[in-house]
Amino acid sequence: MAVSNPAQGILSDELREKRDQVIELLKKAYWMEIETVMSYVANSINPDGVRAQEIREALEADVQDELGHAQQFGNRIKELYGVVPGSLDFRAEQSSLQPPDQQTDIVHVIRGVIEAETGAIEHYNHIIEVTDGVDWVTQDMVITILHDEEGHRRLFEGFLREFEVDGLA
Ligand SMILES: [Fe+2]
Ligand SMILES: [Fe+2]
Repeated sequence: MAVSNPAQGILSDELREKRDQVIELLKKAYWMEIETVMSYVANSINPDGVRAQEIREALEADVQDELGHAQQFGNRIKELYGVVPGSLDFRAEQSSLQPPDQQTDIVHVIRGVIEAETGAIEHYNHIIEVTDGVDWVTQDMVITILHDEEGHRRLFEGFLREFEVDGLA
């Protein structure tokens, strides 16, 4: 016997088109998180110098957060009857987080992190708006993730302030 879909909510037949739209937005979010993991791993290793240590440790901790976000986005894609994409679909976009010419250039890394977090914040705000009233579960999940990204961004804004005060940024 075939199971019937829920009459209401994002899993209903009526909202199939909306569901596909949400899945596409979640896939983009998934790739953003995966790329952030790559960038933060590299930038938690590369930087040199006395001032680099704090930044490296913060990014090392963030790697776990961003990986957890990617897993959450992947699971939600599946719950909405989508498929988590394979690695061949990946397209890199984070030009601001490539290694600087000098590995003591911490300001380059800090600015790159702020740009990546800003991009995530903008995309997640968009998902929250698109899902409003139609997919509460995705919206709730993304609000929590958005909170993490705002925290990450604020931390690195604070790092940048210190360099600005010292005339280094
Ligand atoms: Fe994230
Ligand atoms: Fe983040």
